[in-house]
Amino acid sequence: MIWATILTLSALMSNAVAQSGVDLDKPMLGGGGRIGPGAMLRFGCSQVVIERLDPLVNPAMKPSTHMHQVVGGNAFNASMPYSDIFPLTTCNTCHFLEDSSNYWTANLYFKARNGSYKRVPQIANQFNDGDNAGITLYYTSGAANVTTAFKPGFRMYTGDAMRRTSENLGAQMQQYYRCFTSPNFGGSPYPPGADPKLDTDYLPNQACAGGIRSNIIFPICWDGKNLDSPNHSDHVAHPIGGPSLFSQVNGTCPTTHPVKIPQLMFEIMWDTTAFNNKDDWPEDGSQPFLLSTGDSTGYGQHADYVFGWKDSSLQTAMDNGCYLRNCTQLTEQPPKIKNLCQVPDTVRENVDGWMTALPGTGV
Ligand SMILES: *[C@@H]1O[C@H](CO)[C@@H](O)[C@H](O)[C@H]1NC(C)=O
Ligand SMILES: *[C@@H]1O[C@H](CO)[C@@H](O)[C@H](O)[C@H]1NC(C)=O
Ligand SMILES: *[C@@H]1O[C@H](CO)[C@@H](O)[C@H](O)[C@H]1NC(C)=O
Ligand SMILES: *[C@@H]1O[C@H](CO)[C@@H](O)[C@H](O)[C@H]1NC(C)=O
Ligand SMILES: *[C@@H]1O[C@H](CO)[C@@H](O)[C@H](O)[C@H]1NC(C)=O
Ligand SMILES: *[C@@H]1O[C@H](CO)[C@@H](O)[C@H](O)[C@H]1NC(C)=O
Repeated sequence: MIWATILTLSALMSNAVAQSGVDLDKPMLGGGGRIGPGAMLRFGCSQVVIERLDPLVNPAMKPSTHMHQVVGGNAFNASMPYSDIFPLTTCNTCHFLEDSSNYWTANLYFKARNGSYKRVPQIANQFNDGDNAGITLYYTSGAANVTTAFKPGFRMYTGDAMRRTSENLGAQMQQYYRCFTSPNFGGSPYPPGADPKLDTDYLPNQACAGGIRSNIIFPICWDGKNLDSPNHSDHVAHPIGGPSLFSQVNGTCPTTHPVKIPQLMFEIMWDTTAFNNKDDWPEDGSQPFLLSTGDSTGYGQHADYVFGWKDSSLQTAMDNGCYLRNCTQLTEQPPKIKNLCQVPDTVRENVDGWMTALPGTGV
């Protein structure tokens, strides 16, 4: 059984390599390891603001229903127009100057035994030294000219903030946590989502000595017409064979959603190490973390995206085999520059102190 699992996983990983042209065993930094014609950008965007706004799900609502951490361009606002976002920005927190998109997710909180809450700090992800916390983005395309980049005004939502049970997608899960069992992102040789023990669609039950990482994958098929839909999800869909794993972009799109788009994945790194003392965990031994929605299962992790790349720069990157941060067609900006970009916090509430309730949730 164990060997069967390992064999399946290695078959799956070599497929990922063959399908995406990415050698996942090699360091995830520019240079080395690429084979085949695929493109995969991997880059960090620093935090641009932490506040209770959600222009997708709660447009114009101030504050929105729960706290978010937001990265990307400085056009982020309580409402965002369906026009081209890039010209509305004067800066962004992303590694590539051309990317003024906005990306956001729920935050993570620790609940102490005395009932007080504290936000778990996010840290720069592996290979993103100098980033101010934020999100790492992956855009994957199987080969040149096989995906259509998002159009100006496009936005989407994935996951479900209300979910409190497993989607039972098994190896095809679209959101999951990695429990790093040793410092410096240590403890697992597997690519995101493929560790049979340490990757779970629920928040880890055990203390994670190296922190917790969250990954969220968006669908890879689009209806080709709508920039949005009432639940911000129906205009995109999974391939016929079901949801794609990270960097597996081989599926056939259904006729309702025939246009293949780049696979977008978010990756978030939480430094839980200050909260690993079991004496301060719940007395029943359950884990003490919860999302800013009040969700202590973790099944309700979700992600929001508003496209804001300059002109056709994302299409160009996908069609020219750009790999990780190696992309001569795009302009890099060092952390010390991108970290200067900020959006003023207009909601103004306690984000980082100890608090007696999670803002907006009734928890
Ligand atoms: C970056 O990509 C270019 C073009 O694909 C390639 O020629 C070059 O060797 C790559 N550089 C590194 C450091 O990998
Ligand atoms: C956000 O929207 C408000 C109200 O429409 C507007 O006054 C403000 O300039 C906008 N901020 C940004 C950064 O676009
Ligand atoms: C609750 O516990 C935390 C962690 O032990 C502590 O830092 C905080 O001050 C406590 N808050 C209250 C109100 O006692
Ligand atoms: C992709 O499309 C561009 C523009 O049509 C073309 O110049 C290029 O040769 C194509 N690349 C491949 C690998 O088909
Ligand atoms: C969006 O709404 C459709 C019904 O129109 C539903 O089938 C689907 O599950 C919803 N998706 C999400 C992510 O809420
Ligand atoms: C992609 O290919 C792999 C390996 O052949 C397969 O297991 C997986 O189901 C495919 N993905 C989709 C979405 O069809």
